[in-house]
Order: sequence, then structure tokens, then C-alpha cells
Amino acid sequence: MPVIHQHVPVYFSYPVHFTEDLFAPDNPTLAGLAEQTEGPCKLLTVVDEGVLQHHPDLPQALQAYADAHPDALRLAAPLIPVPGGEAVKNDPDWVERIHRAVHEAGICRHSYLLAVGGGAVLDMVGFAAATAHRGVRLIRVPTTVLAQCDSGVGVKNGINAFGKKNFVGTFAPPHAVLNDSRFLASLDERDWRAGIAEAIKVALIKDAGFFDFIEERAPALARRAMAPMQRLIQRCAALHLDHIAAGGDAFERGSSRPLDFGHWAAHKLEQLSDYRLRHGEAVAFGLALDSTYSCLAGLLAETYWERILAALEAVGFALHVPELEAHLDARLHRGSLFQGLREFREHLGGQLTLMLLADIGHGIEVHRVDEDLYRHAVALLAQRQLPPSITKELA
Ligand SMILES: NC(=O)c1ccc[n+]([C@@H]2O[C@H](COP(=O)([O-])OP(=O)(O)OC[C@H]3O[C@@H](n4cnc5c(N)ncnc54)[C@H](O)[C@@H]3O)[C@@H](O)[C@H]2O)c1
Ligand SMILES: [Zn+2]
Repeated sequence: MPVIHQHVPVYFSYPVHFTEDLFAPDNPTLAGLAEQTEGPCKLLTVVDEGVLQHHPDLPQALQAYADAHPDALRLAAPLIPVPGGEAVKNDPDWVERIHRAVHEAGICRHSYLLAVGGGAVLDMVGFAAATAHRGVRLIRVPTTVLAQCDSGVGVKNGINAFGKKNFVGTFAPPHAVLNDSRFLASLDERDWRAGIAEAIKVALIKDAGFFDFIEERAPALARRAMAPMQRLIQRCAALHLDHIAAGGDAFERGSSRPLDFGHWAAHKLEQLSDYRLRHGEAVAFGLALDSTYSCLAGLLAETYWERILAALEAVGFALHVPELEAHLDARLHRGSLFQGLREFREHLGGQLTLMLLADIGHGIEVHRVDEDLYRHAVALLAQRQLPPSITKELA
């Protein structure tokens, strides 16, 4: 029987800008993105309420920006506030509300959805943008460290379902990403710190020099120094972008997900802690756990393991998660930490493929793990003292 083998070459290209004061009328970045066909482009804006709370003048600033660039863009409707954090990914109604707003404002594939917020809001709006009209243009304005250096610059979106993270979502590159460092000043301590975990993650598997940089600047980062944070965000974003472009599997068709080092436990812990833990906080624990396991399994030298834990603690992460103790029994079904391994494999399909560490800056993939050794790793971490910054916060 005849067979037609169809090849569909697809090429994506998008800029990731690093700027300050994005909505100042004389900042050309946003207006420069609009590709007018007939008249100014329509823009529909969705904003994280956590951002609005700290930047209450944002609606006026956006209107003033549009007024200053009338040939480039016009606001299609009043700005839409949505709750910040994981809640917006746990309630599917939000996606429908964005779809409805796209419908009512007459947003088409040549118009733009502008999403301003943390990773959770960007994930939800990204999914709505990718599915309205089978894909309208999305401009992301990430406002947390984590979103600026990791989640906001990549090609994935999604919401949670059936108690599983990111169960419903798509791969959809954005039209552009605009990182404005001014937003970072209003983050609380936890959200300032949380994103640093993703930078440590990518440094550990790809770039020993970047790990040295973070290790050296950890006290300054913990004190909220902006200059090292800007450098951290740019390097971390560049490493993520390079992996997407050059890693050979931008849409994760294979079984390997190196950028998810430390994430099998992190995703499960977020759920087991009822989202008390931020994604980045859970990732920090996941990095500590998988580094400890790598050391116990004889893959990673103890001196490197010590440096990794010390760097995480110097930034201020807690490497002991009290909720975990009740969840180490493999016989518990959904409630076991180790169910996270199965869910991790199931999310991607194929063979279980976990990234562990052979060296700082050098990951190694394994396809089988020893759960008893993981229990031992959890116990080792539980013995560590809380860092002084956390002890102070808990007091
Ligand atoms: N798509 C991806 O590739 C990808 C990758 C990594 C993580 N993620 C997802 O990202 C989410 C985590 O994102 P996050 O760490 O940015 O946290 P978040 O989106 O949960 O936001 C944390 C809190 O910060 C507030 N906030 C946001 N910006 C602020 C600002 N400038 N000032 C003050 N408060 C502000 C929010 O309202 C929220 O309360 C998770 O859902 C995770 O699964 C996605
Ligand atoms: Zn992550």
C-alpha cells in the first residue's frame, strides 16, 4: 500500500530581553515587538494579583505606554487580574476565563496576549494562549527570579489536574520574553530565594564555572544584592535557552529530561506539602536529595557533595522537609515520595531516566534507583541544622 512520509520543518525564534522599567514610555522594547499589519496591534494583558498588589500603578502605566506608542499597539480591553501562585494552575476555570476574554476582545493570531506574573500565572496564561484559536501570540513578562531565569523563558506551559503537576499543557514557544529586573525588588524573601535553586540546578549539570560564581556570591544573593542576581538570571536563562535550542529535544519526545535534575522529588513534594513549598524550595530539596544519593551511590565525590549542600544552605534553603517523614513508605500508594518516581516516568513516557551527578557541572543519567539508599539520603539531610536565616524566619 502507498505511504506518504510527510516532513514538516518548523522553525522557532524568539527574543529574550533583559531590561529595566519596561512600561516607562521611553522604553522601546515592548512597542518594538509589535508587528503591525493594518494599524496598531491589539494587546490583551493578564496580570498576577501578587504583582498588582505591589505595583498598583501598573494599569495606568500600561495605558500611558500604549498612549505613547499609538502606531504600535492599543489595549484591547482592561487588564485582567488573576490570582498568583499555584492556585491559578489548580482551578481550570481560569483558562476558560482567559479564553472568554480572548473571544470578547476579538484577539486573533496577529494580536498579543501579554502575561505579567510569576511562573504559575505564565504557565496558565501560556496554556490559554496556546489553545485559543489554536495559538495566539504570547509575550511573557516574568516577574519572579524563577520565572525570569527558567520557567518564563522556555517553551512549556500547563495547569495541574488529578493531583498531578502540569498534567494538561502544551509545548508552545512564546513570541517574546521581557525580563524587567525592577519587578524583583518587591518579591518576598522566599520568592527571591526560590528561583536561585533553578540556577544551582543548571549549573550543577552543565556549568561548573557558574556553580563557582553562585557559591562565591551566595551571601550577597541571600542579602538581596541586585547585581549578582541580574548576572545569575542572565546566565541561567542562557543555559536553559541553549539546552532547548541545541539539546536536540526541545519538545521532550525522548525519555531524558536533564533540566529536570532534582525535580522528580520536587514535584511530588510540592503536592505532598499541599503546595506549602514553593516550586523552587522543593527543587532545592530535590537537588540536595539527588546529590546526596549520587554521593551514596558512589557517583559523586563527598567534597563536591558538601560544597553543594553548603551552597544551598548559604543561599538560605532548608534541606529538611518535615512533611516528608510520613511519606517514605513505598507501600503508601499516592502518598509515597517514591510515587514521584513513577509519576515522573509516566509524565514523559518511556524508560525511567533520572539525571544524577558525577561531578559539579557534569550530570549522569541512570535508569534504575535504590529506594533504600534514597531513604538513607533523606535521613542524612534530616540531620542537618537549619541555616540561621531560616531559623530566624521560623522564630
Ligand atoms: N513552564 C515551565 O517550563 C516551568 C518551569 C519551572 C517551573 N514552572 C512552574 O512555575 C511555577 C512557580 O513559579 P514562581 O516560582 O515564579 O512562583 P509563583 O508563580 O507561584 O509566584 C509566587 C508568588 O509571588 C507573587 N509574585 C509574582 N511576582 C511578584 C513580584 N514581582 N512581586 C511580588 N510578588 C510577586 C505571586 O503572586 C505569588 O504569590 C510552578 O507552577 C512551576 O511548576 C514552570
Ligand atoms: Zn523547575
